[in-house]
Amino acid sequence: MILSTFFLLAATSFSTILAAPAPLFFGDLEKRHAGHADQSEAAAEPRAPESSVVAGGWYAPWYKQDLPVSAISWEKYSELAFAFAVTTPDSSVLDLLGEEETLREFVKEAQDHQVKAFVSVGGWTGSQYFSSAVATAENRTIFVKTITGLATEYNLDGIDFDWEFPNGGDGVGLPCNINSESDTQNFLTFLEELKADPVGSELSLTAAAHIAPFTGAGISDLSGFAQVFDHLVIMGYDINGLWSTPAGANAPLKTCPGRTGGSVEKAVDDWVAAGFPADKLVLGVPFYARSYIIPKESVIQNDVLTTFNPAFDRATMPPVFGERETLETIAQTLECGQPAETPSGIFTFNGLIATGYLNVSGEAAPGVFYAFDDCTETSFLYRESDGRFISYDDTRSLAAKGQFINDRGLAGFAAWHVGGDTRSDILLDALHESMGIVADTDSEECIPSQPGETGSGNDEVVTVTVTVAAPTSSAAGTPTVTSPAVSLTAAATSYSGQY
Ligand SMILES: *[C@@H]1O[C@H](CO)[C@@H](O)[C@H](O)[C@H]1NC(C)=O
Ligand SMILES: *[C@@H]1O[C@H](CO)[C@@H](O)[C@H](O)[C@H]1NC(C)=O
Repeated sequence: MILSTFFLLAATSFSTILAAPAPLFFGDLEKRHAGHADQSEAAAEPRAPESSVVAGGWYAPWYKQDLPVSAISWEKYSELAFAFAVTTPDSSVLDLLGEEETLREFVKEAQDHQVKAFVSVGGWTGSQYFSSAVATAENRTIFVKTITGLATEYNLDGIDFDWEFPNGGDGVGLPCNINSESDTQNFLTFLEELKADPVGSELSLTAAAHIAPFTGAGISDLSGFAQVFDHLVIMGYDINGLWSTPAGANAPLKTCPGRTGGSVEKAVDDWVAAGFPADKLVLGVPFYARSYIIPKESVIQNDVLTTFNPAFDRATMPPVFGERETLETIAQTLECGQPAETPSGIFTFNGLIATGYLNVSGEAAPGVFYAFDDCTETSFLYRESDGRFISYDDTRSLAAKGQFINDRGLAGFAAWHVGGDTRSDILLDALHESMGIVADTDSEECIPSQPGETGSGNDEVVTVTVTVAAPTSSAAGTPTVTSPAVSLTAAATSYSGQY
């Protein structure tokens, strides 16, 4: 295959170069999709902006013991959202749930690493009062001030709206959430007002949304949201869980005949049909598993895990505790101001390793059945000793999702949540690799693969770091520079050989 080498020279002005006392490095200024590289093009062209890619996710501060903000693999993300600031009965107040200091550290680390820092407003348990906050002109004015105040106080680059869900009801979202069929229109009006605010206009705005597009009275075309959001994350998970009958995949990529709940593919089609351009959609991917307790004979035939949507009825099954879930921890989780009653059965990917379902390489441990479901393109586990049937995403399913993101021209990925991966980034690296993302890393990692290596691989963009020495004075006195000391024409090398 042909590799192209690009010199990336945008975004730094000459005046900066001339003023600089030390060498400057022109490196990989944006993380990018290599899959979109046009190999026939002259290599010196800077990449088009559409080739930049969102490598995002949410940071859950309740996992900070496992993953302190300082230990996040910042260089592999372009943006991260801090989860959550929750809505309150008073539109002028958002609640950071005691994590103010963690947020300050998070923003500082993000900005030290040139990663955009967002706060995510809402979430599953934090969306109760969104509807009233945007319901009237008066409340929207207050809520605009609340949002811009939060952004200013914490020096945020943006706000992520995780309203679960506008015009909810009918069992979508928590039962205590305020809902109105005007929610979607009011949300858009609010966002337009936020964009018109001097502080709000400087913020990046994003959203996390259900697989089904927003609905509501008098609004079916959602293109107005694409004007105000930098991008919208489709939460392509929680498609099946303990509420499902039968059981099924947490995050099915493809729609399978006879299986319920929907799929990532259908969600993207639906959002595009509702007026959202594909290149403003980001795929939300799970770094976690959902589990069920299922009798062996329902899923295993001839010692092979073959059934991926076995019969399941929560009412007749024992409680399905997830990672670190006990009756006590569940009671500490407030839903609608009340202790939650039922376990979630959720494990982070890392938690599947900690609890022995996976080995440290992230593959099925001895005695655990593994199968990849070719229909949903997701992975499953079954452990006989505790009867646990697990739907999860691993390197294989995330590679399929990464390929899908590229094939459909989506803006990128966002992981729920970054602390769910191993500290060696097993899942994150699988996404990067499948999407051909060149992370902003040391130049030594940008060296092309071995000459002489043949075979088909992903199209690869090789980024070369160009070092430009600052002008030096050859004599005593003040150096004067009358013309650029170095030429940056950068007729980049174009490799055309077998690699
Ligand atoms: C406006 O916000 C206040 C709280 O800030 C709330 O009590 C009131 O119900 C809201 N108005 C509407 C129409 O929802
Ligand atoms: C994990 O399991 C896989 C598949 O059985 C195996 O190839 C790998 O070596 C194991 N890793 C470790 C560290 O045991």
